[in-house]
Amino acid sequence: MTAIEISAPGGPDVLRPTTRPVPQPGPGEVLIRVEAAGVNRPDVLQRQGAYPPPPGASDLPGLEVAGEVAALGADVTGFSVGDKVCALVPGGGYAEYCVTPSPQVLPIPKGLSMVEAGGVPETFFTVWTNVFDRGRLADGESLLIHGGSSGIGTTAIQLAKAFGAKVFATAGSADKCAACERLGADRGINYKTEDYAEVVKELTGGKGVDVVLDMVGGDYIQRDIGCMAPDGRHVNIAFLGGAKVTLNMTPVMIKRLTLTGSTLRPRTVADKGKIADALRAKVWPLIEAGKVKPLIHQTFPFREAAAAHALMETSSHIGKIVLTLDA
Ligand SMILES: NC(=O)c1ccc[n+]([C@@H]2O[C@H](COP(=O)([O-])OP(=O)(O)OC[C@H]3O[C@@H](n4cnc5c(N)ncnc54)[C@H](OP(=O)(O)O)[C@@H]3O)[C@@H](O)[C@H]2O)c1
Repeated sequence: MTAIEISAPGGPDVLRPTTRPVPQPGPGEVLIRVEAAGVNRPDVLQRQGAYPPPPGASDLPGLEVAGEVAALGADVTGFSVGDKVCALVPGGGYAEYCVTPSPQVLPIPKGLSMVEAGGVPETFFTVWTNVFDRGRLADGESLLIHGGSSGIGTTAIQLAKAFGAKVFATAGSADKCAACERLGADRGINYKTEDYAEVVKELTGGKGVDVVLDMVGGDYIQRDIGCMAPDGRHVNIAFLGGAKVTLNMTPVMIKRLTLTGSTLRPRTVADKGKIADALRAKVWPLIEAGKVKPLIHQTFPFREAAAAHALMETSSHIGKIVLTLDA
């Protein structure tokens, strides 16, 4: 099969088409003929050599795919060859064929195209487990999302609104803020021209937000703590602005805040299967009702993965970048 490999750590140009054997599904695994593969920021980090695949995972990049079931390993139930599916994969999504544990495979929600479905799993699994499991966001609460225009952010805005939260989203331009509001955010906050913490305090009548989804870290963490409500939950999913910080923890104590976070890739198949079950039960109906829809910024033929990564690194995109493969 043709696949895109990381020929050496480096810039987008190290992504090169190569020929690899078609992977074979082991017990409990599904082989998928890939038609669309989402591009995620962690793929960029992996390409740069900063995010090695976990033991046993393919060295090929790609954490999510949509396509057709091509073969089933032993003991797989619930799927048949030819089913249209999307899946969270341990790696190897930038390829004509990809294997993944069956608990991480989901039917494509009715009404979504292959391209849209290829951009669903990574952000929906991540947002579900961080905003709703760890962050325990509840109906009527408020959520502050940093990176509101990212793949993660555009998913988080829609899911939080669909579950009854008030949503504030930061982004780095007026256009991105407007896009966040079109997706349902109550207020997009341009962090380059506004003090987001002050805006959030004002918009919550001084109370602060109940949950923060933070991919920036760095000096944002102290500012977030300052605009959080009592018993608030702060969830880090990345540290684009730095992971090492000095904090005044007093407000954490006074306001009984929880600082937490998680990273999806190293979690067990059982954990990912539980997230998949929750998505299927609670989120797939929202997608099928048209209330939540992945926002696709641009597609690239998968042989042009380097151009897709170069675009992601400009951070000019709004929503998902997806690679397409010939059906
Ligand atoms: N923990 C997990 O399990 C998990 C899973 C998936 C992804 N992630 C993380 O979640 C983040 C979003 O992923 P994604 O695929 O949705 O990414 P993405 O679409 O590329 O979006 C990242 C956005 O972050 C904003 N940003 C803020 N500070 C930045 C900085 N210092 N450098 C670069 N961008 C910055 C940019 O928007 P502005 O221009 O508006 O600032 C950019 O568009 C990434 O950091 C990724 O590693 C974590």
